[in-house]
Amino acid sequence: MTQATHGGNVYKVAHERHIPVDQIVDFSANINPLGPPAVVRRTIRSALKQIVHYPDPDCRQLRQALAQQCGVDPDMILVGNGSTELIYLVPRALAIKSSLIIGPTFEEYARALMDAGGRVQYVHARREDRFRPPVNEIIRELSAKRTRIDAIFLCNPNNPTGQVLNKSVMCKLADAMEGRQGWLIVDEAFIDYSQNQSVVSMLRAYPRMVVLRSLTKFYAMPGLRVGYLLGASKVVDQLKERQPPWSVNSLAQEVSCAILSDHAYAIKSRAFMEKERSRFINGLRSMPGVRVYSSVANFVLIELPDWSSAGLVADRLAAEGLLVRDCSTLPGLNARTIRVAVRTVKENRRLVTALGVCLKK
Ligand SMILES: Cc1ncc(COP(=O)(O)O)c(C=O)c1O
Repeated sequence: MTQATHGGNVYKVAHERHIPVDQIVDFSANINPLGPPAVVRRTIRSALKQIVHYPDPDCRQLRQALAQQCGVDPDMILVGNGSTELIYLVPRALAIKSSLIIGPTFEEYARALMDAGGRVQYVHARREDRFRPPVNEIIRELSAKRTRIDAIFLCNPNNPTGQVLNKSVMCKLADAMEGRQGWLIVDEAFIDYSQNQSVVSMLRAYPRMVVLRSLTKFYAMPGLRVGYLLGASKVVDQLKERQPPWSVNSLAQEVSCAILSDHAYAIKSRAFMEKERSRFINGLRSMPGVRVYSSVANFVLIELPDWSSAGLVADRLAAEGLLVRDCSTLPGLNARTIRVAVRTVKENRRLVTALGVCLKK
């Protein structure tokens, strides 16, 4: 299996184009443009003395803080080295062999499932439906029990389409999976921008539901690697048994505890995104032939005009130090699709101008 392509590889672009990393504006990874909260730096400085010890393998303090924030028991939480570690742990530990992925979506679910020896089927949301997932179709298919499906993997809000399913629709999916003793795995990596739709409060009613969360995007610290998973305590125990020890380092644990109580940062980040995303979308929509999909998250999916291609445009923008995510190889999307993160006002203006120039050539 080859590695999947992801956004955010500033090192590769810097190496290939001889540009210093700090001169690249990265629209290809969906990171909070406000940067990490100030408390991150302070906490790292004071936590440095702890690196002479192994980190707490049970992440006790962090699980306690997360439990309090999420309104669940700490034994319903498992912390990982980024949610990516947990995405790979789930199919192995739960022996998931046959899965349905609702696409187009994050590629690591399919890779993790195949890596664990499982089979993958896709149901893709269609562009004609503005990428709203065909949930009724999926539920009909599940009720017909024509094919074996042990688990559904779903990203909500979805990367890269920016669409969110509401809780009542999620209930229907959860009912359908409980009915056939299957798992519903919901990746809420971008839920901070759409908190009302989180399914965490449904966990007690649905013991076969697992929720994945990430702290790397909303808190702008993908280099520190922290994610967590919520599920029934029995399921969490089963997963923990298969996790390597000490996968979450002590700096990451300390920083995560500190940021969770920074409510001002969270409020400011959401308010900024709400305002800037619509301004950015309007700017992008002003270009002829460009189709911009609505989004509840901190990124936007764009279809370029008929005569252009995602690869070409991404390449031209990269030459100017602007990194966008070429989505042309993502299953379920066409060759003209790119995804861009919503960044600062100034950076977003720069991208709109540069894209306009690219599309005129
Ligand atoms: C939907 C989704 N889930 C999970 C991840 C992994 O995040 P991390 O491992 O940094 O927590 C990503 C990263 O891009 C993502 O887009």
